[in-house]
Amino acid sequence: MRKIEIFDTTLRDGEQSAGVNLNSIEKLEIAKQLERLGVDVIEAGFPAASKGDLESVKLIASTVKGSSVTGLARCHPKDIDAAWEALKQSAEPRVHVFLATSPIHRQFKLKMTQDEVIERAVEAVQYAKKKFAKVQFSAEDACRTEREFLARVTEAVIRAGATVVNIPDTVGYITPKEIKDLFGYLSSHVPNIDQAILSAHCHDDLGMATANSLAAIEGGAGQVEGTINGIGERAGNVALEEVAVALHIRSDCYQASTDMKLNEIKRTSHLVSKLTGMIVPANKAVIGDNAFAHESGIHQDGVLKEKTTYEIITPELIGVNSNKLVLGKHSGRHAFKNKAAELGFELTEEKVNEAFQTFKDLADKKKEITDEDLFSILADKQTETTDVAHYALNMIQVQYGTEHIPTATVSVTLPDGKEVTEAATGSGSVEAIYNTLERLLEGPVKLHDYKINSVSGGRDALAEVYVRVRYNETESSGRGTAQDVLEASARAYLNAVNRVLTLEAQQKERQKAQV
Ligand code: KIV
Ligand code: ZN
Repeated sequence: MRKIEIFDTTLRDGEQSAGVNLNSIEKLEIAKQLERLGVDVIEAGFPAASKGDLESVKLIASTVKGSSVTGLARCHPKDIDAAWEALKQSAEPRVHVFLATSPIHRQFKLKMTQDEVIERAVEAVQYAKKKFAKVQFSAEDACRTEREFLARVTEAVIRAGATVVNIPDTVGYITPKEIKDLFGYLSSHVPNIDQAILSAHCHDDLGMATANSLAAIEGGAGQVEGTINGIGERAGNVALEEVAVALHIRSDCYQASTDMKLNEIKRTSHLVSKLTGMIVPANKAVIGDNAFAHESGIHQDGVLKEKTTYEIITPELIGVNSNKLVLGKHSGRHAFKNKAAELGFELTEEKVNEAFQTFKDLADKKKEITDEDLFSILADKQTETTDVAHYALNMIQVQYGTEHIPTATVSVTLPDGKEVTEAATGSGSVEAIYNTLERLLEGPVKLHDYKINSVSGGRDALAEVYVRVRYNETESSGRGTAQDVLEASARAYLNAVNRVLTLEAQQKERQKAQV
């Protein structure tokens, strides 16, 4: 069995998904789970992009030890310096530099010749190599680059010290047959290829990212890059869980394996979906809610007689827990704490107590508390940031009737501690709440997106609302969970605004530190 390295870019390419913005606490929580999942490399961000990115890469690099942590950099010394600043404390400092190589990018974006591209790439790799033990070079848009030129670039950056050469299908254009040929060609035409690992990085614009990544492995790739749930730019990146499970189930065909702990897949997928607000479609391969549901009579009959008639992946393989009923209203703090640990949460004593109280309140109203409910409560508590003065919801009351104008009355505590109450109308209940909140906040809030999801099944399920807003010239997303959809809506809106306040406070802190 060949070992395939897994390079996870959920926190960099995945975070580039439209509407996703994670704060550093959420990124750290995902990074810790990726470490548990057993990925080899975590791309934690793009340190030169912003001070916030640099700080979160630094936080992850100094916390995570079981996976190697890396950061993206353009071929500029200042980007590589920023990456070094963020990554120098990591167990195995590693940087990921990139430069486009395709004729389209050379002509229209870079305005550089082939020789200039090679020169810039080599200089950047040499510069990075003075600081980092591991240097990965990516030839952006490699799959639309002339093969001979791509082979020259690959040889030159390996000579300059690159330990991994990544061949991205940046626009999701290539086909499985072509990518297998391309990796085969590079493996046989680059004279020093034995000194580096070839890596595949496939986007899913034509829905071929998984097939392409597997074909690249057949062609000689030793590393696959992707994201959890396949999130990422446009149609996203390859879903790593699909690649790992395919290699496992079809090891007879690929003769390759990963170090990923497959039974951590469901939890990782759940956490990424919850924190990014990108809901996983029910029919998504491996992780969708229907992935193990057998609906037709013929299939059910077959599965009852012999599971393997229609089931090639068992739910247990990816960590789906079939025993869903867990704690009830009489469960104590000790059982709750054990369950939190079993679900993978390491909370401080204070946070356990707060989460336990939320659980007790919910248990009074909801008949059955499922793993999903607990996961939601615990993930919210773990990623909550209350260190910056923020808006807090105290009370909400809505009047609605098909013959009446919806009217909301809302009371919040302002960042300065003052409690205020307002009322407003809207064309629907949610709009009435948002119009009221807007009156209570300083400055206008523009709502760009609103999504609602039920955490588990049943009439009394928890509601989870995701919003995307623009407040104080900043794009922000927020999420809120409650048993009532209107309360969850109000919480999500305030959460998005509070994230902007946190960002502004962090920026002020940094400016103060620079003076
Ligand atoms: O898709 C791409 O080309 C990338 C590179 C920066 C590796 O994400
Ligand atoms: Zn990409």
